[in-house]
Amino acid sequence: MEKMIIHGGAPLRGTVTLSGSKNAALPIMMASLLTSEPLHLSNVPRLRDVKTAMELLSQLGVAARWIDEHRVELHAAKVTSHEASYELVKTMRASFVVLGPLLARTGRARVSTPGGCAIGARPVNLHIAGIRALGSKIQFRHGYVEAHAEKLTGGRIWLDSPSVGATENILMAAVTARGHTAIENAAREPEVQDLVQVLIKMGAKITGAGTHVIEIEGVERLHGAEHEVIADRIEAGSMMAAAAITGGDVTIANAPIEHLEAVATKLREAGVTVESNGKGLRVARTNGLKSVELRTLPYPGFPTDLQAQMMAMLTQAEGTSVITETIFENRFMHAQELARMGADILMKGPTAVIRGPSKLSGAPVMATDLRASMGLIIAGLAAEHTTELSRIYHLDRGYEALDAKLSGLGARIERAPE
Ligand code: EPZ
Repeated sequence: MEKMIIHGGAPLRGTVTLSGSKNAALPIMMASLLTSEPLHLSNVPRLRDVKTAMELLSQLGVAARWIDEHRVELHAAKVTSHEASYELVKTMRASFVVLGPLLARTGRARVSTPGGCAIGARPVNLHIAGIRALGSKIQFRHGYVEAHAEKLTGGRIWLDSPSVGATENILMAAVTARGHTAIENAAREPEVQDLVQVLIKMGAKITGAGTHVIEIEGVERLHGAEHEVIADRIEAGSMMAAAAITGGDVTIANAPIEHLEAVATKLREAGVTVESNGKGLRVARTNGLKSVELRTLPYPGFPTDLQAQMMAMLTQAEGTSVITETIFENRFMHAQELARMGADILMKGPTAVIRGPSKLSGAPVMATDLRASMGLIIAGLAAEHTTELSRIYHLDRGYEALDAKLSGLGARIERAPE
């Protein structure tokens, strides 16, 4: 196990380039099951979760290989297994979106239910209801979802909540189903839109990506494609909060500005300069941070995956900030760790009240989940003395070469054995 050691106080300055989006790459990789031809992906981030996805696909018979640092070739010439094991799915919940493509390709799938995780119960009822609506028989046995369908048929599906994973699973089941499918109250996230782009390149007939209703006309079969994964908007937002808390001046070279409206608006409200400067997105802060109110919402609202990072930054804002987490029921674990560094945070159910500015002092803290880890690093960058973050395997799931990127911006941060 490794830990990250951060010596706080250095303002971040310079230019940083984002990696490809983890949450776009993972479902897109599962889409390789939908065709017997190769899928070539570029701008794939080198992350633990991508490695896990490669392992899962190989177990299903997909020839999965890295062509170079950030390009993969996935070739499901034949699918030789229908099972996604508990061992794999419990380490990476996103594996559950293998259900739709596996069922579409082979008519069978046995996928472990992911179970809960640190940030919430994370049920899959919406995935199941959607796949059932396409004519699949589904039963639950021994902790596994067992799905069968001679041939999936299109249907009309209403999602109680705009679930990203459920939208992706249903999409991938519907593209070769017989007839028309409409997913109402679909997720609008850029990562879902990127998956749709790939499916269309593979020959799928889909309209409405990025809106509340996605319509799919089933086709006979899909063919191979090439695709460059979009840049990671959550990594972008994480870097923006890090630049802001340290009073720095950072340009994010390949920021997907069109995916960051809510984040840019909220940061500007907090007194941060956010502007395009021809070389990318410039984020700078010279005066004090101002407190803000923030609610996490489905896209295009403020992303829940940036809530921990914003909470860390707002510990330095003048006044009282209020954060309401509306997506997950237990996504404030970083608050306790921030409090140990000196933050003043009061929590009541889905709401956290942050009073600032509070003097942060370095401390040994523990990562509980991927984005909480980033929030603690952001706090460490502004804290006095040294912060030691343990269990950084959480971090390595979703951030590629984070210490190198931050060091390149002047942060004093290094990995060490725990
Ligand atoms: C995706 O998770 C992301 N993961 C998450 O990012 C992100 O936080 C989340 O979307 C919300 O934006 C990937 O894309 C791999 P949901 P997902 O289904 O698909 C409830 C990160 O840090 N729900 O939109 O699992 C669920 O419990 C990760 O990169 C049901 O009730 O999210 C949650 O409260 C963390 N029933 C809410 O919906 C269902 O069948 C949003 O979940 C499905 C979901």
